[in-house]
Amino acid sequence: MQWEFFLTLLLFNSLWLIEASTSSSSEEDDGSSEQDEEHHKTSSHGHHWSYNDQEAWSAAFQHCNGKSQSPIDVDTSKTIFTPSLPPIVLEGYDLTDAPALTLMNNGHTLQLSLPNSMRIVRGFDQVYLAAQLHFHWGSVEVPGSEHTIDNVHFPAEIHVVHYNSKYASLSEAASKPDGLAVLGGFIGIGLHENENYEKILSALRDVSAEESNTEIPGFNVRHLLPKNLEKFYRYNGSLTTPPCFQTVNWTIFNETITVSRRQLAALEDTLKAGQNQLLSKNFRAPQLLHGRRVQASFISKPIPQNGLSRGDTLAIVFGALFAATLLVFAVYACTQRRKYSKFKNSSKQNVIYKPAIKEEA
Ligand SMILES: *[C@@H]1O[C@H](CO)[C@@H](O)[C@H](O)[C@H]1NC(C)=O
Ligand SMILES: *[C@@H]1O[C@H](CO)[C@@H](O)[C@H](O)[C@H]1NC(C)=O
Ligand SMILES: *[C@@H]1O[C@H](CO)[C@@H](O)[C@H](O)[C@H]1NC(C)=O
Ligand SMILES: [Zn+2]
Repeated sequence: MQWEFFLTLLLFNSLWLIEASTSSSSEEDDGSSEQDEEHHKTSSHGHHWSYNDQEAWSAAFQHCNGKSQSPIDVDTSKTIFTPSLPPIVLEGYDLTDAPALTLMNNGHTLQLSLPNSMRIVRGFDQVYLAAQLHFHWGSVEVPGSEHTIDNVHFPAEIHVVHYNSKYASLSEAASKPDGLAVLGGFIGIGLHENENYEKILSALRDVSAEESNTEIPGFNVRHLLPKNLEKFYRYNGSLTTPPCFQTVNWTIFNETITVSRRQLAALEDTLKAGQNQLLSKNFRAPQLLHGRRVQASFISKPIPQNGLSRGDTLAIVFGALFAATLLVFAVYACTQRRKYSKFKNSSKQNVIYKPAIKEEA
């Protein structure tokens, strides 16, 4: 009975130890994004593509079937801390009211044209000039960032597209191996209205129709990105829309941007694609890494400085329980042995001093 009890307790503790050490790994999710039959769209160049038939892109655009496609899921446990990654330094982002910027609904996204006086002066081997920024989003039910972190989507994502200054234009650079650098930021929901995002979102109604555009005053575009530009992920990828050229040096910031629930709803709910369909869920599903490495400019899993993580505490508690069980077991085993040897001794005594016992009796 007691032996069984100890064995069960030991087994139970071991199971808990294993459980505690593995429970920190993230839950599985195939990362696929279901798209419903919404807008089918014809681009101005005659190629048809839409977000609800992403599997068909590679038939018309061969690069979409390549091995360095974007977006991707960033598995934070697999990123490679690379302290040598130079921090991103931006110049010319602080625009004044004039000249105005063109905001347009191109049927796939909401896009703001940027002057090439805006540039990334440090972070890459060459200077990269800004061309445009645009967004990817979902719907009220579906978060629509393109990149995911540990298989989790954020509500929306901003992309600021830059091209290598050694090329004459974005279109010339787009197909070159070192052509593009895109800065990506996740947009989540916060308590407060984001007044910087409002500079774009307040003009949404003016571009609700596909292929419509409007002018908005210039502003400090730096404020659309996270405050902290030092923490980012870096990988080699592609355009996330056809023709999917594999020419993008991606930077995805770790700090997220927040807008109010109302602002996000406006983005999800105002623009039209085609005749009467909503322009929403304009995100591509995460693509396979095919052996690519994702670098991180920061330590992904910081070592706890003061205090222990929940996992550590659990491991220590069950470790202690395990040790206690061993100790009790050892003591039990000892006492059993002593009893047995006493019994052996007394039986010997019985044999040796039999006559004496008889005397007493
Ligand atoms: C992206 O930029 C980094 C940093 O300059 C560089 O090491 C890497 O080779 C670049 N990737 C491509 C595809 O040019
Ligand atoms: C990205 O591509 C460049 C050029 O091919 C290569 O030198 C670099 O090592 C790649 N970066 C990563 C993180 O694999
Ligand atoms: C930022 O980094 C931390 C630490 O690795 C991670 O837990 C978190 O998910 C990251 N968030 C984003 C948006 O990258
Ligand atoms: Zn994009």
